[in-house]
Order: sequence, then structure tokens, then C-alpha cells
Amino acid sequence: MTRMKVLGISGSPRRSHTTEGLVKTILDATGLETELTSLHGKKINGCICCLGCVEDNTCKVHDDYIPLMHKVLEADAIVVGAPNYFGRLNALTHAFLERFYCFRHDKDGHGGMKLSGKIGAIASVGGGGDWEMPGRGMAMYEIAGDDIKGFFEYNEIECMGVVAAQGAVACFSCGYGEVCSVSGVKRFFGQDAKISPEIIPCLDKQPEVINKAKLLGKALRERLEDRFEV
Ligand SMILES: Cc1cc2nc3c(=O)[nH]c(=O)nc-3n(C[C@H](O)[C@H](O)[C@H](O)COP(=O)(O)O)c2cc1C
Repeated sequence: MTRMKVLGISGSPRRSHTTEGLVKTILDATGLETELTSLHGKKINGCICCLGCVEDNTCKVHDDYIPLMHKVLEADAIVVGAPNYFGRLNALTHAFLERFYCFRHDKDGHGGMKLSGKIGAIASVGGGGDWEMPGRGMAMYEIAGDDIKGFFEYNEIECMGVVAAQGAVACFSCGYGEVCSVSGVKRFFGQDAKISPEIIPCLDKQPEVINKAKLLGKALRERLEDRFEV
């Protein structure tokens, strides 16, 4: 039987938080062989446009991206998750995705790029939840996913869908979330918000999101089975 490999990348620098949980939910729902990698602790530069990858589609910047580059190439499908930082895709995930530039050369002119035709799914997280992001016409938790979608389109990765969840802003745990005048707790939950376990967002409190993530995982599997005629 054809082995279909699905790679999950959690682009949050935090381990075991909402982004990682959402990516894992999608992966588990595929019922396929999967691998989940967190960008936590990884040192990944943005693309430096050295063009060292033009000849052989292999990035020459030797940081923690290199092993991931090989994993991405070997995978039949990738699930990328990331949080919204400052109203956009967080820098760590952005740097990781910029490095996909190494896959975007076709020096022999045969057509197609290295990731063309791979299948993808997206997990998008934002502390502001469905609060509208001024100027972008979408909710806070949709922004990172929208940016990832752009990277997928550039690399001709077929996107099966995006699922968005609200995560917990770090202000819930910094110790000053109820008093700090620029606290995300106040900003997203009101000036008088009091921190208690009940109001701290997490995936378990969003069953409809979990359900959507599971459906996305199943859709990913079906598309892969279609592709490999399993
Ligand atoms: C530097 C920084 C900036 C952030 N900016 C935003 C923001 O503009 N909008 C938002 O909804 N959440 C923002 N957040 C909150 C994160 O999206 C939220 O904590 C999310 O849950 C992080 O994902 P994780 O829980 O998987 O780590 C920000 C967090 C950090 C650390």
C-alpha cells in the first residue's frame, strides 16, 4: 500500500499551546502517518537572497531550516499552523516559509516547482479571536492563516482549508494582565476583565473549532487517497 506522509509544522515559539494543538488535531484526524514539528527553539533566518539554491533547489543557509527543508520535500502533504503577532503572521513562521524560495526555481525549464501539487492545510491562531482586525477586513484569528495561504499559492500547494482558533494572549500569565494599561486581556476581554481559568481561551473550550479541524484532516486524507488512487 502507498505510504502517504503528512508533515505538521507548528510555527508558534511556544510548545503545547493552541497552534500546536490545532495542528495536531488536523494531523490526528487524517489517520495517516504523520509527524509534528514545532518551531519552538529553532533558529531560522529569513531568506537572504544569496541565490545559492538556484542550481539545485537546496538552501545553503545552514541553520535549523535545513532538516525541515528535507522533511517538507519528502512530505505528500503539509499542515502549517501559526499565530497572529502584531496583526500579521508571526516572524518565525514567516522566516520558515520565506525559505521555500529554494523550491521556486526551475533552471531546466521543465515546468513546475518543487512543491507544486503538494497538498496543504492551515491552522490559524490569534489571541483576539473573532475581534475584527482593523484594516484587514477579517478576524484576528484568521490573519496568520490568510498569510500562510499566500505562501501556499506562490508555491502551488493545493490548500484544503483553513481552521482558526482563539489562543491565550501571554498577558494572561505575565502577572500584570489585570493592571497593565496595554494588556491584551483588557483589550480583548474588556477593561474590567479578571483573570480566571474560565476566561482563558484554549482549544478545549472551542468544540466547533475542534470539529472543523477534524473535518479538515479527513478532507486532507481523502484528497491524498484520490491523488494516490488508494
Ligand atoms: C509579540 C506578540 C504579538 C501579538 N499580537 C497579537 C495581535 O496583534 N492580535 C492577536 O489576535 N493576538 C496577538 N498576539 C497573541 C497571540 O496570537 C496568542 O497568544 C496566540 O495564542 C499565540 O499562539 P500559541 O498560543 O500557539 O503560542 C500576540 C502575541 C505576541 C507574543
